[in-house]
Amino acid sequence: MTDTDLFSPCRLGGLDLQNRIVLSPVTRTRADMEGCVGPLQAEYYAQRASAGLLITEATAVAPEGRGGGFIPGVYDDRHIAAWKLVTDAVHARGGKIFCQLWHAGRLSHSSLDPQGRAPVAPSVYHQQGQVFAGKGFAPFEEARALSIEEIRGVIAQFRKGAERALAAGFDGVELHAAHSYLIDAFLRDMTNRRTDIYGGSVENRARLFVEVLRELVAVWGAERVMVRLAPIGHAYQAWDSDPEPLFTYVVEQMNGLGVGWLDLVEGDTGLSRTAEPSFDLQKLRRLFRGVVIANNLYTRDMALAARRNNTADLIAFGRAFIGNPDLVERLRRDAPLVDADPSTYYGGGAKGYTDFPTLDTPAAQGATLA
Ligand SMILES: Cc1cc2nc3c(=O)[nH]c(=O)nc-3n(C[C@H](O)[C@H](O)[C@H](O)COP(=O)(O)O)c2cc1C
Repeated sequence: MTDTDLFSPCRLGGLDLQNRIVLSPVTRTRADMEGCVGPLQAEYYAQRASAGLLITEATAVAPEGRGGGFIPGVYDDRHIAAWKLVTDAVHARGGKIFCQLWHAGRLSHSSLDPQGRAPVAPSVYHQQGQVFAGKGFAPFEEARALSIEEIRGVIAQFRKGAERALAAGFDGVELHAAHSYLIDAFLRDMTNRRTDIYGGSVENRARLFVEVLRELVAVWGAERVMVRLAPIGHAYQAWDSDPEPLFTYVVEQMNGLGVGWLDLVEGDTGLSRTAEPSFDLQKLRRLFRGVVIANNLYTRDMALAARRNNTADLIAFGRAFIGNPDLVERLRRDAPLVDADPSTYYGGGAKGYTDFPTLDTPAAQGATLA
């Protein structure tokens, strides 16, 4: 195993990848209010297609599952042609792209639901903070508990989303089961207080996760299904009191279904690589039979070390990809990275989105370097 291994083509999970660097899912809220992406997103993803694998921003499987305005969707057949623009553009550059399937759960807002209903959760929960609801920021509302009947509806929404992603030409789908969104909220005892078959024991809390995963596998085949987990994350101030047995069970279920990929957020996304309660995440890496992507606060040196020590098969970068469409080349040459302005992360148009220089464009001379 050499350092350059990070940059070498490889075959993993049945896919030929240009290298072992992954675009982590990064929400940019530049879709239209109906959830359609367009030529702007096609350009953005195509610019980053030299990554071994791209994962889209969180893409809602239901309008009421959007965690804000201008979020893209796969909840309508119109979204198929919209995303096809993106997948075609990425494939034309030799890239591979998975669609991150998402339901925001309690972290949505009634104004995003066509029927104006309160957002949903495993059990009643009032999140502190604010959501960008389309017409500006609004406080989170008290989420209502999903009925068993409605849970069946959510599972069907994920299945339809997976089918549309397949029709749109993606190379696979990622189930967003991290960061306290709906699937993750069911997993954790802090946000799941149900007393029926979807709450209580680890097995019950993981039931929705497994049922959704089964549908994705049925549509895509297990090798093209990925799961994002953040086992010790504290997104939206939520965690689990005993994450090791919970996420051990979750990964065992993934193995049972033959799921191909695990996208593991190590620690608190964007904030820290340690969190409490904690356990050694390498145990999940060793337990999982498929391909493991590691993410969170990776630097070039850390990525090289992860390959050298074989602590992950691939490394995903989030923020570094925002300002560096040619991140792979910059890491290869150990070139300086452009520091994107966080005020352009969410919303807007091409500015702060598709206007970053590459090493080979003269504009790179004037860019802000981190
Ligand atoms: C602007 C922004 C949007 C993000 N959107 C998503 C998302 O849609 N889905 C997701 O799973 N993670 C999302 N994340 C988390 C990233 O995928 C990643 O875990 C995080 O940025 C840490 O990796 P990094 O240190 O390489 O940036 C987002 C992060 C940022 C900064």
